[in-house]
Amino acid sequence: MNATPPPPLSSPTLTAAQRASWDRDGFLVLPGFVAADACDALMARAGALVQAFDHGAEAPREGEASVFSTTDQARTSDAYFLGSGDKIRFFFEERAFEGSGSSRRPTALALNKIGHALHDLDPVFDAFSRTPALAALASALGLVDPVLLQSMYIFKQPHIGGEVTCHQDSTFLYTEPHTVTGFWFALEDATLENGCLWALPGGHRAGLKARFLRSGAGVRTDVLDATPWPPFGRESGYVPLEVKKGTLVVLDGLCPHLSGGNTSARSRHAYTLHAVERGARYPEDNWLQRDPSVGAPRGFGSAA
Ligand code: FE2
Repeated sequence: MNATPPPPLSSPTLTAAQRASWDRDGFLVLPGFVAADACDALMARAGALVQAFDHGAEAPREGEASVFSTTDQARTSDAYFLGSGDKIRFFFEERAFEGSGSSRRPTALALNKIGHALHDLDPVFDAFSRTPALAALASALGLVDPVLLQSMYIFKQPHIGGEVTCHQDSTFLYTEPHTVTGFWFALEDATLENGCLWALPGGHRAGLKARFLRSGAGVRTDVLDATPWPPFGRESGYVPLEVKKGTLVVLDGLCPHLSGGNTSARSRHAYTLHAVERGARYPEDNWLQRDPSVGAPRGFGSAA
């Protein structure tokens, strides 16, 4: 991952106050970053991918679906998950199979997420992920030569959308030094009821608490700092990020954040991108690995 970084773009997109809040809080909320019709187009594309998956050879037979859970590590150690770093794969909600096994809900209402190379393999996601506005924003945030490593389409389904426990994204995409930046796009309104993000302002300055890494044929979590997160709640300083469709939330890789379960009848679709600096060391035991045949990761420049 060594190359000459491109010159920074000349038109930063952040005000001094936004830049100060990014440095202070470790996250930044940018309402209206994406037009509503672009959100709609991405949701339609995700719907088409789900339909193709549901009717294709990869559709799981009963009892074989891969489930994603942040509360059960065994769920993230199967080969389907570990091989998804350079593919487009489909992960189900833990609660998608409640009730009678033979009458599970439609796939479009049962998935937890699609990951983790939509930005490289699908032309619609590629174009959404590589716009001049995003490139300029990355530059304004101080990213020098970022490359896109991971993308996820997150459904947060009505009633069954699971919680995501408090974590730092650098736990999962570790680099030396820490260079992960997350870009979280609200494709629908995110509210307390449908499981909006919550973040801990300033928590990024406390350092990295854990690493999630490959270990043998599976994974393990190494604790780097056993100090627990403050108990969840506004009184501990967590703030809910209730945002409108089209909002972009940028997260420092060390920013502690979480989201609750979806207790409402409305979905909360979101798209996330994670970038790291090309020049940073990316260990071979990070869970997300790319086969050389898919090429080196690309930056925010023009879509392929
Ligand atoms: Fe995250």
